[in-house]
Amino acid sequence: MIRVAIAGMGFMGWIHWLAYKRVPGMEVVAIWELDPVKRSGDWRSIQGNFGPAGEQVDLTGVATYESLPDLLADKNVDVVDICLPPALHHEVAIQCLNAGKHVVTEKPMSLWTEQCDAMVAAAAANQRQLLVAHVLPFFPEFAMARKVIADGTYGKLLGGRFLRVISDPQWLTGFYDPNKIGGPMLDLHVHDAHLICLLFGRPREVISRGRVQGEVAKYWNSFLTFDDPDQTVCVTSGVIDQQGRSFTHGFEIHLERATLHFELAVIDGKVEAMPLKIITAHQGVIRPEMPVGDDIAGFEAELREVQKSIESGQPSKILGCELARDAIELCQRQSEAIFQALRR
Ligand SMILES: NC(=O)c1ccc[n+]([C@@H]2O[C@H](COP(=O)([O-])OP(=O)(O)OC[C@H]3O[C@@H](n4cnc5c(N)ncnc54)[C@H](O)[C@@H]3O)[C@@H](O)[C@H]2O)c1
Repeated sequence: MIRVAIAGMGFMGWIHWLAYKRVPGMEVVAIWELDPVKRSGDWRSIQGNFGPAGEQVDLTGVATYESLPDLLADKNVDVVDICLPPALHHEVAIQCLNAGKHVVTEKPMSLWTEQCDAMVAAAAANQRQLLVAHVLPFFPEFAMARKVIADGTYGKLLGGRFLRVISDPQWLTGFYDPNKIGGPMLDLHVHDAHLICLLFGRPREVISRGRVQGEVAKYWNSFLTFDDPDQTVCVTSGVIDQQGRSFTHGFEIHLERATLHFELAVIDGKVEAMPLKIITAHQGVIRPEMPVGDDIAGFEAELREVQKSIESGQPSKILGCELARDAIELCQRQSEAIFQALRR
């Protein structure tokens, strides 16, 4: 049994709590949370933009801690799952690793590449795993795309176009603060930055242009090249002031003999999707049957990958900390390119 402590019982802590319930062999044994109401098991104030609303839960058998040192002294905890605000990930992860715990941290791994480097070093020095909970590769369309690419049926991966745009999240305080949430680059686009690094590796060249808000990029387009000159990637991401379309994401992935296409938007509160298609060079259009699942299913698959990683002692190729660090670096390179171009 892998015994987990969730640090921060907010929206993501709740979603992870629900997902752990579906993973035999993993059990939440402790919670670290500042809010005494939440420590009592009253999670009715938790709200997010997907999944069920928070509930009153029975915490019998679950230790609840107000301070990190108390949590770290708990020998019953093998893994700390950090679901705290991004600015806390770096310091808390390092303290947990130094205390001999494995760590899973929500995205973004941290707000700055240098902090990620220190986190990677702490994991190595303590011989503990540091995994970053990038859930996107486990969402059905993205998991299917990974599978089709890995199968090799349609030849080499040539590139793609990745889209992720939201309306202004006015309810999120500190969203555009580079030292709190990091704006849409680190809160939103980091999902695609991670996927791009997973599929293509670290880009050679990063060309980005866009609009900024204060010290962070607000809306941008990027063009990425890689060591393989055949591969190019385009990115569109950020915030547009358009409350009628709160969210849109999608991709077009180019293989030698097929294009994978998927797009989904939330328009006027309703989901409108163009389901995943494999548009082949010679065999028409294939519409793969997608697994039926709820909002928790992707997180369940992600945590099963955490379980496999920790049980095998072989850090996950998808959730491993070096890849997540490269995603933060890619975000930072795009931000720097946008600000540099504006200064010219
Ligand atoms: N993968 C996804 O789809 C996804 C979606 C939303 C958020 N996230 C990420 O999850 C993380 C958490 O976001 P959230 O929306 O759950 O935030 P949240 O504000 O809902 O929850 C944070 C929780 O941490 C607690 N907390 C804050 N400081 C603390 C401290 N010092 N000690 C103990 N508890 C403390 C708060 O009381 C709160 O309960 C962020 O990194 C965010 O980017 C990921």
